[in-house]
Amino acid sequence: GKILLLNGPNLNLLGKREPGVYGKETLDQLEQNMKALGASFETEVSCFQSNHEGELIDKLHSANEDGTQGIIFNPGAFTHYSYAIRDAVAGIQVPLIEVHISNVHAREEFRHTSVIAPAAIGQIVGLGFKGYELAFHALLDIQKGRG
Ligand code: DQA
Repeated sequence: GKILLLNGPNLNLLGKREPGVYGKETLDQLEQNMKALGASFETEVSCFQSNHEGELIDKLHSANEDGTQGIIFNPGAFTHYSYAIRDAVAGIQVPLIEVHISNVHAREEFRHTSVIAPAAIGQIVGLGFKGYELAFHALLDIQKGRG
């Protein structure tokens, strides 16, 4: 199996950026953890982060063509307003779970809306890095027809 871990803008700053909100662990640690988790389930986790909307869209399109079986996606602030990313998610067949590290519902009003969630299988918020692991397990279940 093959799963894509996709992180959007400013998530390259994990560990340095507002650690009270997003924790002290870095993006590199997250990616290494997820690769190791994948390996223990014979699943290749490929990782990509970009601060650019178009690059995220291109990656969603290419995942649709390269045999990727599931996508774990934290779109960062694009979550709240990018119809282009929502259309990309709606336009691909690969099952996708939206993840947010922080509890967006306990924060500013503008973070309460996701324009992407309607096109995703589901959304996990507020559980820190554990949300990515839960999304991984959910995608494995979906692949096995137990989702
Ligand atoms: C985030 C929440 C977003 O509102 C914010 O813009 C981020 C990170 C999260 O993981 O909690 O960049 O997606």
